[in-house]
Amino acid sequence: GSGKFFVGGNWKCNGSKESISKLVSDLNAATLESDVDVVVAPPFVYIEQVKNSLTDRIEVSAQNVWIGKGGAFTGEISAEQLLDIGCKWVILGHSERRHIIGEDDQFIGKKAAYALGQNLKVIACIGELLEEREAGKTFDVCFKQMKAFADSITNWQDVVIAYEPVWAIGTGKVATPQQAQEVHAAVRDWLKTNISPEVASATRIIYGGSVNGGNCAELAKQEDIDGFLVGGASLKGPEFATIINSVT
Ligand code: G3H
Repeated sequence: GSGKFFVGGNWKCNGSKESISKLVSDLNAATLESDVDVVVAPPFVYIEQVKNSLTDRIEVSAQNVWIGKGGAFTGEISAEQLLDIGCKWVILGHSERRHIIGEDDQFIGKKAAYALGQNLKVIACIGELLEEREAGKTFDVCFKQMKAFADSITNWQDVVIAYEPVWAIGTGKVATPQQAQEVHAAVRDWLKTNISPEVASATRIIYGGSVNGGNCAELAKQEDIDGFLVGGASLKGPEFATIINSVT
């Protein structure tokens, strides 16, 4: 693998003040391997609560950000505002934003460029739909999404790539370690050819899609899997800790 193991918890649109307070105290009490970067992404409205109660051992991410500087953009949150409240990361290009909200490659790429320009770190998500996999288009789709990020990104140091096959997200149908490894290796090779060998070997490529306490260890053993982006299982403190501690 590349770099330090990285585990992100994407809480999506889940939680209440009460449930998040319980999750934070479970995470504060958990024993976490030291050699892992850990980030959690609460809904915007709970970021401050989490920042004020969660151990500094775990960094905080947003799940989205506006494409540029703030202003007359009703309902949006800017990178400057996230940084102002101590949020260091943002998830961009998540499949739910691509396929449910309708964000396209170019819009996502521009968001990444602006966020990185403000020193907000980016978890850049890619991944194919089931019909795209079945049509043999997995690499094409992932490379096209990578290219859109690459067209906007100049500094890869603050980028983590998350490969999340859409058919595996929230379905309980995790990719096999071989399926995930195959795409991670291809993405790393794409980086080598299209960016540089240095970026290819230094950039973390993490897997997301139905990762849980039971399947994380086998996935973590794969050469090009440098961590995970966890949805459902990140809402359970002890199980999320198991996934963090699957570092090999
Ligand atoms: O960002 C996280 C992914 O969408 C995975 O979600 O672990 O609930 O399948 P999941």
